[in-house]
Amino acid sequence: MRVLVIGSGGRESAIVYKLSKSPKVEKIYAMPGNPGMAAYAELVSGSVTDFDKILEFVNSNAIDLTIIGPEVPLCLGLADILTKEGHLVFGPSAKAARLEGSKAYSKTFMEKYNIPTAAYVEVDSYEASLKDIGNFSYPLVIKADGLAAGKGVVICEDEATAKQTLKEMLVDGILDGAGNKVVIEEFLKGFECSLLCFCDGDTIIPMVSCKDHKQIFDNNKGPNTGGMGTVSPNPFLPKEISDRFEDVILRPFMKGLKGEGLDFRGVIFIGLMIDGEDIKVLEFNVRFGDPETQVI
Ligand code: AMP
Ligand code: GLY
Repeated sequence: MRVLVIGSGGRESAIVYKLSKSPKVEKIYAMPGNPGMAAYAELVSGSVTDFDKILEFVNSNAIDLTIIGPEVPLCLGLADILTKEGHLVFGPSAKAARLEGSKAYSKTFMEKYNIPTAAYVEVDSYEASLKDIGNFSYPLVIKADGLAAGKGVVICEDEATAKQTLKEMLVDGILDGAGNKVVIEEFLKGFECSLLCFCDGDTIIPMVSCKDHKQIFDNNKGPNTGGMGTVSPNPFLPKEISDRFEDVILRPFMKGLKGEGLDFRGVIFIGLMIDGEDIKVLEFNVRFGDPETQVI
């Protein structure tokens, strides 16, 4: 197979490295790639959102499979464009990518299909949000609806911080369009677990568990990031809990895909918070994690 990998992170580097070990893979290209991949893949200049260029490259280089690494091209519909032209793609349609691209959509999906998650409200005006925060205790969590590269979630310890965060997102527009709508939700305690699963729309197969470390400074201090480091398998995860993932999360998730008519072929990354017996979903990502993929 001739494979094109879209992206330039450590995640795509791990994907390229692993592909290079497969006897089925004859040639790997990476667009734009990074120098760490150059031993395994031919780097092709171009942006992950230049869809005309990507399509032209796939057509003129007899690419058999395109693997889309990051969320932005998935949410913008790259998989749909390639699939429509008859190409094989690893990565979901734009409609299914809304599970990551809109926090409000993902919360509605979870609620509808009984996937356990934090209690929440969705709000798109600052005035309304001030009323809504009265129904929460502190800390509370404010999430920009749209994609924000790991920076759209703020854990607010007090009302002053909550009001300031809501104003920055809904009035000042510090996250551009991503913060025009927000989700306010209850704070969950426990430990986090990243559960990445292969999914072809009919079957879902979890990979080995993982733990992401989010806060920017040592000793769990400072704001959240997209991920500072990871360990796998998740050292805190008891077997009694992972044995329940299928019933509590994966089956309802697959029911949701079918119910909503979502074409999902790729990786669904389920971010979990586990507290004693309690398993809750924090978020969905519609792709491999970075840096989870490197350790997995
Ligand atoms: P998300 O993008 O929704 O996964 O949020 C990013 C990070 O914020 C998560 O990995 C958690 O560390 C934290 N977080 C999100 N939602 C909550 C919540 N309801 N309670 C506690 N921490 C949260
Ligand atoms: N490390 C979290 C993510 O990839 O979204």
